[in-house]
Amino acid sequence: MTTATDAAPHRRRVPAEDFRAVYATAPDGVWAAPGRVNLIGEHTDYNDGFVLPVALPHTTRAAVRRRDDGVLRLHSAQGDGAVTELRVDALTPGAVPGWARYPAGVVWALRDAGHPVGGADVHIDSEVPTGAGLSSSAALECALATAYDDLYALGLAPAALAVLAQRAENAFVGVPCGVMDQMAATCCAEGRALFLDTRDLTQRQVPLDVAAAGLRLLVLDTRVKHDLADGAYAGRRAGCERAAALLGVPALRDIAPAGLDAALRRLPDGELRSLVRHVVTEDARVQQVIALLDAGDLRGIGPVLTAGHASLRDDFRVSCPETDLAVRTAVAAGALGARMTGGGFGGSVLALVTEGDTERVGRAVSEAFAAAGHRAPRAFTAVPSAGARRLG
Ligand code: GLA
Repeated sequence: MTTATDAAPHRRRVPAEDFRAVYATAPDGVWAAPGRVNLIGEHTDYNDGFVLPVALPHTTRAAVRRRDDGVLRLHSAQGDGAVTELRVDALTPGAVPGWARYPAGVVWALRDAGHPVGGADVHIDSEVPTGAGLSSSAALECALATAYDDLYALGLAPAALAVLAQRAENAFVGVPCGVMDQMAATCCAEGRALFLDTRDLTQRQVPLDVAAAGLRLLVLDTRVKHDLADGAYAGRRAGCERAAALLGVPALRDIAPAGLDAALRRLPDGELRSLVRHVVTEDARVQQVIALLDAGDLRGIGPVLTAGHASLRDDFRVSCPETDLAVRTAVAAGALGARMTGGGFGGSVLALVTEGDTERVGRAVSEAFAAAGHRAPRAFTAVPSAGARRLG
């Protein structure tokens, strides 16, 4: 394996000190929001369906000082050293380039929703891998949304902040994502998976003590960069919406598994049929995983995860050779189940493994990647962690 299977990522920098180095003053505080790995429920959130994400220990931290002159200054430890300076009242969708559009979009979305917010000096430092399907964008948005909620005394609930962060990504950044990642970043709890109904945002914290069951959640980052802004994600979403309209339902969530065959017969082409089959069976897999977790059968979810991957590969067609190889190899090396996680087209694979098999499964995937001429994957074990919070 190329990296250790660290439960907690290594922290090298102190955001408050770095803030002082950039802005020559102290921040009002430091807020953090995590990346996430989704256990099951992929491409269901924009179909009003079910998801089951877990927050990672990896976070994006925002050191922030409120300003009352309407100026927003943004700096990132992962950036090129430049400070982006914007006027809050001049923020316009599409007008801010690069990483700065995510935090700028949050401020825009808050104002657009009528919240009385102004400027800030912001220093960002993130250990959430980018482009790895682990929701680095949502972590960035939600760290800043949580900071603004505190600094401007907005009193918004975590779910309300998630919806505003999603709006920032949809309308300001221009990525038509669902609400799962932002809800995971704000609402997840330590030792729990978040069972979320994306139609009405009702949620249940489901205990997920992987270690107590002698298991590990092994995340394998294929290092194939995905880009949700490219047309493929938007195309899948548009296809789902077209199918729902043709079937006369508000969203594909409204097709029950028992009505799936009849629904498929009413659709004109094979592509739409495949999209619908994935979404309807994936919602059912989330319910199945919840039933298994409620019954204390953590090992039992393995085959459901692998079935989810087959559906994403064959029906929804958002996997890629690297994620398929990682899943196939992990399962052959003894993983109880494995699937790609996140939007797809690259990114990460999640494997459920017994503790003693963790190294072996990681090594098998590394060797298979080397043999196939792929870049070396990165691996770590995910420990269900807390959602957005103030650090200090
Ligand atoms: C991305 C999006 C989410 C969701 C997943 C697929 O992570 O941001 O809203 O649609 O893809 O499940």
